[in-house]
Amino acid sequence: MSLDSINTPRWSRRFTFILAATGAAVGLGNIWKFPYIMGENGGAAFVLVYLLCILIVGLPVMIAEMTIGKSARKSPVGSVLSMVSEANASRYWSIIAWMGCITGLIILSYYSVIAGWVLHYIGDAFSGSFQGITPASAGESFDALLAAPSTLLIWHSVFMGMTIAVVAAGVTQGVGRAVEFLMPLLFALLLIVLAYSAWVGDFATAFSYMFKPDFSNLSGQAVLTALGHAFFSLALGMGALMAYGAYMPENSSVARSAVLVALLDTLVALVAGLAIYPIVFATPDLAPDSGPGLLFQSLPVAFGSMSGGVIMGGIFFVLVAVAAWSSSIALIEPSVAFWTERKKISRIPATLILGVACWFVGIGSVLSFNLWKNYKLFDKFTFFDFVDFLTANILLPFGGLLTAIFVGYIVVTKTRDEQLLNMPPLLKTILIWSLKVVAPLLIALVMSVGLIKTFT
Ligand code: PHE
Repeated sequence: MSLDSINTPRWSRRFTFILAATGAAVGLGNIWKFPYIMGENGGAAFVLVYLLCILIVGLPVMIAEMTIGKSARKSPVGSVLSMVSEANASRYWSIIAWMGCITGLIILSYYSVIAGWVLHYIGDAFSGSFQGITPASAGESFDALLAAPSTLLIWHSVFMGMTIAVVAAGVTQGVGRAVEFLMPLLFALLLIVLAYSAWVGDFATAFSYMFKPDFSNLSGQAVLTALGHAFFSLALGMGALMAYGAYMPENSSVARSAVLVALLDTLVALVAGLAIYPIVFATPDLAPDSGPGLLFQSLPVAFGSMSGGVIMGGIFFVLVAVAAWSSSIALIEPSVAFWTERKKISRIPATLILGVACWFVGIGSVLSFNLWKNYKLFDKFTFFDFVDFLTANILLPFGGLLTAIFVGYIVVTKTRDEQLLNMPPLLKTILIWSLKVVAPLLIALVMSVGLIKTFT
């Protein structure tokens, strides 16, 4: 990768930036989380709201984040501060980036635990233990995994180690290269699983479950979950795309990149849903609302009955792990970038210290599936549920709200517009309005209603 004359490294090609941003966006959120929260929230109506959230709120905020990073070319905190000083605004705005760093670290703590499940399943798949597996025994082996804190802890540690290793080496070095061929491969494999499960499963029911909305069972809480997931899945609201935007080549278009990343991310989520649900509906023991185990209970059954399933299943879980890996990097990068920029600490110790801290917090999520299963915060959340709810449904949308307002009102217009030069005027007007008015109001409304419904 080339080093630019100004000391920030850049990804040498436009395409590499798109792939790295897609690598951040596409991850467990698409393949593991989207299918099961869709099932918990009633299917198609939730899907529709989710798509609207991406279009109306997610896309404008994504453009805003990339704009900040690409104009200032620093860590998220540094970038926000340079925009603040250019505009003579209050330094308190840097809370956006601060909060984002912390949010990313909290997400990484439990993200790594779930990615650990995926690592465990790679071994299971390649060793042939899915062969001829029944839905009931797939459920039992998943439950057995969750019941074993030491196994979960080992895989959580392995995954965190993998994340630390890449981030310590520097994001422009490792990440750009790896995602370049692994992301397309993941997508190809998802399509194969989709074709297979459409072949053996109940595709018609799955399709209407996902695309024929019935709004009667859409709750205020579900709308908040959809909004939160739009942020989570697009990797928004915590500065990741600001951090990546800083490495963006000068000649790439912020708006076009954002549209492409959002499209790819959405496509992967929908394909993952369509690959999983035909199997769920063809399997009497599996229900759409099975929760976080949905992926791990449905796909082994599919791989176990398909010819070549041992290899295919193994490769599939490897690729999901890679997708999780390229996302986990984006979760910790803003903090590492900030710390190395400010305190003159070098990348390796900074990454190690932050990574170990996340690992430690992650132990809470490990235990929440077994020893601490019955400790409930607010009478409803396990530790895992709580960190997930806090980050996805509160901190990310709130970060997005502040980012929209910041770019809508505070950032100097000339600076902002430099990044939007090649946008058609009408789209640009829509974008500015959605940053100034629509996105902040919608986020505030959905968050207030959702939080009230959740806690009353
Ligand atoms: N977008 C990632 C996923 O869907 C998670 C993520 C969130 C990554 C926020 C970076 C920042 O799995």
